Amino acid sequence: MKKRYNIAVIPGDGTGPEVVAEGIKALEAVSRRSSMEFSFEEIPIGGELYLKEGILLPDKVIEGLRSADAVLLGAIGHPEVKPGILEREILLRLRFELDLYINLRPVTLLPGVKTPLRDKGPRDIDFVVIRENTEGLYAGGGGFFKKGTPDEIAIQDSITTRKGVERCLRYAYDLCRRRNKAKTLTLCGKSNVLLFESDLWVRAFEELHASYPDIAVQYQNVDALCMWMIKNPERYDVIVTNNIFGDIITDIGAAIQGGLGISAGGNINPEGTAIFEPIGGSAPKYKGLNLINPLAAILSAQMMLEHLGEPDAATILLEAVKTAVKNDIKALEAGKMGFGTREVGDLVAGYISGIKPQP
Ligand code: IPM
Ligand code: MG
Repeated sequence: MKKRYNIAVIPGDGTGPEVVAEGIKALEAVSRRSSMEFSFEEIPIGGELYLKEGILLPDKVIEGLRSADAVLLGAIGHPEVKPGILEREILLRLRFELDLYINLRPVTLLPGVKTPLRDKGPRDIDFVVIRENTEGLYAGGGGFFKKGTPDEIAIQDSITTRKGVERCLRYAYDLCRRRNKAKTLTLCGKSNVLLFESDLWVRAFEELHASYPDIAVQYQNVDALCMWMIKNPERYDVIVTNNIFGDIITDIGAAIQGGLGISAGGNINPEGTAIFEPIGGSAPKYKGLNLINPLAAILSAQMMLEHLGEPDAATILLEAVKTAVKNDIKALEAGKMGFGTREVGDLVAGYISGIKPQP
């Protein structure tokens, strides 16, 4: 009997459906040569559904996601929907309701992929960012006072809880130990200005360190860290940070590992649901053109396999991606890959099966 995983799939908007299809193709290829199989249940939420029926994220969808073994997401974002609605009511609400408190974003330069960093290679760019995913500026309230007048005031609160910080730090320390590389955990904050929030992070970081004597620790302010990520990315092993800094530094991470076309991430509740996604967004101008790079979605499926406790299958998938990148794919930008979206998926699926398909 094959082990069966129930995967909920949110193809979403723009190029989301195209890239997710290639992630599924890779998983099906993995399933053909392993003792696991997948059933995929499609969930049609996103900008299209909102525009047609006014529906964003029904409670029963959230309940359905809770019972899935994992979730694959394409992209949510629609040019005809006012910015903020889909983001807050779908993406962020999923993170809050399912308590996906870890945003795991690996920054890995695969051999053969170009980085904009001169003189840096795959040995230098290989770290992981753990972004706290449920608190900070993303969870704080706020409001206007005297809006639209010369005296107007805007307040944007940020929320930092001891529990939220501690569970995130613990995950980061554990991951740093499991990775077993430089065993260095960097806390990224802004302790010279955010006197309260960073203070809480630093104290919790130092206290927890007592349980992880094998891990070396360092603290860096976010501005300096942005500079060092570009100058000396080899200094990093695992970086842990708050929600907004994590949002920002992972875009730098995406850029230095070859761009959004290859950058994947997971929104994870270690005790519950996890959603894996290409971090690039819906790229509406490429929709339906078979041009967009599906590797980020395929690598999301790879992260999902690791999360499901299938490291061998995850390795097979990763090796297939590496082979396709090394042997075939010329560039990672849409329209410049030398292959279409589906063809990249076919190449990876072919390598997974051990057969090199003829392009
Ligand atoms: C990300 C995105 C989201 C975020 C947006 C779309 C709400 O930028 O996942 O990094 O800010 O978290
Ligand atoms: Mg972002």
